[in-house]
Amino acid sequence: MSRTVLLLCLLVSSSNSLAPPRRSFPLNSTERPVQLFPLQNVTSMFLSSDGSTLYVGARDAVLSLDVSGGGGVTQKQRVSWRPTDDKAAECRRKGKDSAVDCPNFVHVLLPLNSTHLYACGSYAFSPQDAFIDRLTFSMVNGPSRRCPYSPFQRSSALTSDGELFTATTTTFKGTMPQISRHFSRDGRPDVSLDNYVSLLDEPVFVSSSADSANGKIYFFFSEFGSEFSFLEKLRIPRVAQVCKDDMGGRRILQKKWTSFAKAPLLCQPPTPPHNVLQDMFTLPPPEGSSSSETLFYGVFTSQWSGPSESAVCVFTLQDIAAVFSGTYRKLDKNSQRWSPASGRHLGQCGLANSSDADLEAVRTGFLTAGSVRAVGNGPVLVSAERRYSRVAAMRARAANGKEFPLLFLVTDSGFLHKVVLSDQEPRIIEEVQLFTGPQPVRSLTLASTKGVLFVGTSDGVVAVPLATCSAHRTCSQCVLSRDPLCGWSQSRRVCTGVSGAEEDVIQNLEDGIEQIKCPEEETAGDIRDVSVSLNQAVRLQCEKPSNLAVLSWTSHERKPLPETLFIRSPDGSLSFLASARTLGAYSCEAEEAGLREVVVSYRVLDTFSPRSIVPQPGDDFEDISTETTVSQDAVSAQDPPSAGDPRRPADTTQADPDVPSKPGPSTSRTENRISMDAPRREKSFHGELVVVSLLLAVCVCVMAAGALALWRQKKAGPPVGSSAHVDDSSKTNDSMEICSLEAGSELKSGE
Ligand SMILES: *[C@@H]1O[C@H](CO)[C@@H](O)[C@H](O)[C@H]1NC(C)=O
Ligand SMILES: *[C@@H]1O[C@H](CO)[C@@H](O)[C@H](O)[C@H]1NC(C)=O
Ligand SMILES: *[C@@H]1O[C@H](CO)[C@@H](O)[C@H](O)[C@H]1NC(C)=O
Ligand SMILES: *[C@@H]1O[C@H](CO)[C@@H](O)[C@H](O)[C@H]1NC(C)=O
Repeated sequence: MSRTVLLLCLLVSSSNSLAPPRRSFPLNSTERPVQLFPLQNVTSMFLSSDGSTLYVGARDAVLSLDVSGGGGVTQKQRVSWRPTDDKAAECRRKGKDSAVDCPNFVHVLLPLNSTHLYACGSYAFSPQDAFIDRLTFSMVNGPSRRCPYSPFQRSSALTSDGELFTATTTTFKGTMPQISRHFSRDGRPDVSLDNYVSLLDEPVFVSSSADSANGKIYFFFSEFGSEFSFLEKLRIPRVAQVCKDDMGGRRILQKKWTSFAKAPLLCQPPTPPHNVLQDMFTLPPPEGSSSSETLFYGVFTSQWSGPSESAVCVFTLQDIAAVFSGTYRKLDKNSQRWSPASGRHLGQCGLANSSDADLEAVRTGFLTAGSVRAVGNGPVLVSAERRYSRVAAMRARAANGKEFPLLFLVTDSGFLHKVVLSDQEPRIIEEVQLFTGPQPVRSLTLASTKGVLFVGTSDGVVAVPLATCSAHRTCSQCVLSRDPLCGWSQSRRVCTGVSGAEEDVIQNLEDGIEQIKCPEEETAGDIRDVSVSLNQAVRLQCEKPSNLAVLSWTSHERKPLPETLFIRSPDGSLSFLASARTLGAYSCEAEEAGLREVVVSYRVLDTFSPRSIVPQPGDDFEDISTETTVSQDAVSAQDPPSAGDPRRPADTTQADPDVPSKPGPSTSRTENRISMDAPRREKSFHGELVVVSLLLAVCVCVMAAGALALWRQKKAGPPVGSSAHVDDSSKTNDSMEICSLEAGSELKSGE
């Protein structure tokens, strides 16, 4: 069985996979900083309606954080909420770990009314709820258990007009799912799920959403789907509805939902491989539009391991409502089989006064016959590498006035992917490392008007600016980022934040570089002088401005660069032996989407040549010993060095080829190292001999890489899916790339 499914996975996943992130920022990089508010186990969060206060539920505490300031997150108020000693002792007696299970983890934190917050915590495996006064932050314990016992079990809750709707499990063991309404208004009864037949089968609730215009509440979850007669128990992603004002029945279904119904969500036909819902984000309609334009962005993973890790599908409220107002199936209590249902009122609101016969039909006819299909009948993106666990979405208005969906996807391994969905294809604008994982991301709160995403983790709240446009240093880098939140300001000549239509800004979100009108002078790059002596090995470094850029080296004197003399390394550097034939000017160019940009230019000069080319005061040749790495700081034609010898030995280690990639053409100049491996002025050392030995080394390297690739291929076995295999194949590709680069086949020439 699982073999069939795997085969299916392979077939489906081969299409529509994502390109790598255009840029990758490591943890807390200077170009793309994030802020951490340290706090143990952030498990729930919500943003006040004015966007100035972030309420956070954590381990043994509830806090309010001031997030109104430009940069900082500061604590406003805090209330400690620890289980009593008795409760903690009881938790330990029941065999739970005192540090892992027995603190109070706040599962639910929501605004209840204008004066109070509602909170529910696991409270030493004995869930407890509480009301918190917004002003004084004092806490009053509430009635009883409306969230899971286990700190690790998921649940969902929302408040609407002072009423609380919850979807949770209700027992110590985490069984017995329940969807209910609490604090019901106007003296109407609290309602919950009927238990005539089992309405849910081991659901994992991930989120909920209120459709106020139509008086409905939706819950999103995955559960075992008994309507499919698979040999293996199959998990099915679902949406369930209840009517907000459901009063229950009069004789039958007293204090029970008369409006409960559920429908399968179809991310990708056929249902596997993306059959487990991880998260669902509700994107409200644009201002002034009808609520039926509400969109739901869901992250799906698979019950089985397969070559694709996760997918994102979009659903519309309109489609969900249409499925719930369609036809239904009913469950036979004895045979547990499904058949078409005939009730006229199934899935409808306002059945309080209905006949007993109608309500009997409601009791068993709760599964829709149709499925809610994703917009476009498939995922908007599929990631082979990343297992996304949470999603947030917004509509970003670009400089041309058009709106683009922007997704923020988070993995439990600690990476945020910002993805723009344009007409052509999804693009990962950037990858930002948020923490060193793995740890579960329990909550994600998007403050789109503030331009900040708050990520709740085991270590605290990470505040990530939605964009750091200054990380793009040149016009073409800014435009190539295709970030609707960033554009090149022609008047200020910086990459700047965009929020809506703007005349001054250059931006290009759709294909076609002909629209990119970056000023010429922006592409000049740095010019650096490198002084060498003959027969010395020279290595010129060049850092990719983006992961998607292809680097190439050009020279004014020689086109093309002969492959016998020049070696290009996978890190982008160019190596050759200094000789009369190789002195001169070199440029490293990056090409991306048809746009070329000079990243850096070098002038390789003979130290013995007349000083008139570049004055270099204080040159002392004898200082340079063999095997010495030299820092080339501040050597350029426009900016002659004045303070000391520009080529003073920096450190005695070999130049490190694994300098971490720092994107952007004008990186700090100390990174720009030249290794001088060959003995200086050794006239007996024949140039040709060195070239031959270098080539020999390349050959050996190519053979080794090829052998390695073959060995890996053998080791990886047949391409039947585990994530380890995916990793392996990507490594194999890497070594192939190294191979081809080292063989010099990638050498490009021309202007
Ligand atoms: C980033 O680095 C700064 C200074 O090194 C530090 O204070 C801050 O906490 C770091 N932020 C994160 C998220 O690690
Ligand atoms: C808000 O809810 C709390 C708890 O139920 C209650 O004590 C308080 O009176 C309510 N406030 C308003 C303004 O309704
Ligand atoms: C049900 O009937 C009662 C009295 O017969 C009435 O007051 C109430 O409005 C009715 N409810 C609905 C939902 O029709
Ligand atoms: C709480 O945080 C610790 C690490 O700080 C982590 O090991 C643990 O799993 C977290 N617990 C929950 C319930 O998230």
